[in-house]
Amino acid sequence: RRMVAVKAEGGGINPEIRKSEDKVVDSVVVTELAKPVTAYCRCWRSGTFPLCDGSHVKHNKAVGDNVGPLLLKK
Ligand code: FES
Repeated sequence: RRMVAVKAEGGGINPEIRKSEDKVVDSVVVTELAKPVTAYCRCWRSGTFPLCDGSHVKHNKAVGDNVGPLLLKK
């Protein structure tokens, strides 16, 4: 199994999301989720962060990574 370290410029993993913040934190009240399944991004490439928009597929192909979303199910 091939292991590839993916890092953003400067050694981090977040390439561009909300870089002006000291720490990117998101919270959700699970009982308020409207859909049966909600996918949250863990690759830091989503255009709809913190929600997954499928960008992990392109990222994984580009660098040989295997990241995917966190699924919250009702
Ligand atoms: Fe990041 Fe899907 S877009 S996990």
